Amino acid sequence: MNNFRYNVVTDVRFGKRSILQLKEVVELYGGKNILIVYGGGSIKKNGIYDDVVSVLKDCNVCELSGIEPNPDISKVREGAKICKEKNIDCIVAVGGGSVIDTAKCIGAGAYYDSDPWDLVEDGSKIGKVLPIIAVLTISATGSEMNKNAVISDKTRNIKLGTSSLDFIPKAAICDPEYLYSLPSIQTAAGTADIMSHIFEQYFRKDTGATVSDHIAEALLKTCIEYCKVAIDEPKNYEARANLMWASSLALNSLISCGKEGAWSCHPIEHEMSAYYDITHGIGLAIITPRWMRYILNDSNVSKFAQYGRNVWDIRESDDKKCAESAIDKTENFFKECGIPMTMKEVNIDSSKYEIMAEAAVRNNSLDKAFVPLNKEDIVNIFRMCE
Ligand code: NZQ
Ligand code: ZN
Repeated sequence: MNNFRYNVVTDVRFGKRSILQLKEVVELYGGKNILIVYGGGSIKKNGIYDDVVSVLKDCNVCELSGIEPNPDISKVREGAKICKEKNIDCIVAVGGGSVIDTAKCIGAGAYYDSDPWDLVEDGSKIGKVLPIIAVLTISATGSEMNKNAVISDKTRNIKLGTSSLDFIPKAAICDPEYLYSLPSIQTAAGTADIMSHIFEQYFRKDTGATVSDHIAEALLKTCIEYCKVAIDEPKNYEARANLMWASSLALNSLISCGKEGAWSCHPIEHEMSAYYDITHGIGLAIITPRWMRYILNDSNVSKFAQYGRNVWDIRESDDKKCAESAIDKTENFFKECGIPMTMKEVNIDSSKYEIMAEAAVRNNSLDKAFVPLNKEDIVNIFRMCE
């Protein structure tokens, strides 16, 4: 097992009506002048907005709404300006990854004198960050407990990740009932995203970090057990609660402790959503099983067989057959959850395969991935998704 630093600072307030603790949390970690950041309006329909405003009625509250999926830098610029003008001392992000990531960059932009896009391009420029408090409304990215933010410049088809330990939300309010209004496709895409985060950390060169791998397997089993339940019964508390906690644990550094290496499917998907603005989790579901089939070889077959046996309970003694069956099961699972599984279904044709593959290689460390990938490999994987 490699040496590691595990630093998770988020004070998680999990459970029914945990929103009632928001005031206390804001007093502990924030202040009086609050900026609430939210998306396109779902929180106004499902009552979460009313909850937040009523709990914060004694604070000085400003709002920034209209954060879109695959959030654009323009909203970060707008938010940073508000923070400077209104002397904001804490940001409450009410939403999913798009809203929380935007809030993180606004929090850094508030202390930055130049264009906040610099902070997206180069995380080392991130200095002080306003405290971020997340009120989570979708189980997917883990942004509520991690140091990452992913922001796009939609005018230039660029989508980049940046990070800072100071981006980790100081607190996260996680009420599984807030997920009841999620459309099935968002439940499914969010679960595909959680599973992909786990795969990205599970499929690494073996370092003997068995504890991380077994936690990862348990989280994958949880996603498989509850995703369809949440789709069939959107108000099933147990399903929502387990998916919500799985999303946080899948990407708060826990399961990469003792492991090193770079990600594979996310760099590829980020280019798909940069050029086509598709839902992140859908892009990942399309890429993941094809990537698995493409990279499967003699030296990694035992890891895929381990995945098959420990996650899918496949009783097959031949490693290759077990691995192939696990990959088929992964693809079928996404299909059964209602996710469109081909490029055609999400209106992506082959015209930008080369540009996207080139950008994926340029913007990431795919040469250090579980199986190193070059531009040609990525184009081949895109073709397998047709
Ligand atoms: O905008 P509203 O109206 O709120 O609707 C949202 C949005 O359309 C809707 N939604 C959220 N909660 C809801 C709800 N609808 C009904 N009821 C609710 N309770 O869901 C849609 C998707 O929201 P979004 O925030 O975009 O989803 P997600 O959490 O999947 O975030 C995706 C973004 O995060 C980035 C992705 O690339 C993408 O930009 N990622 C961030 C990461 C991180 N910070 O660690 C890592 C990830 O790998 C990922 O790259
Ligand atoms: Zn993701």
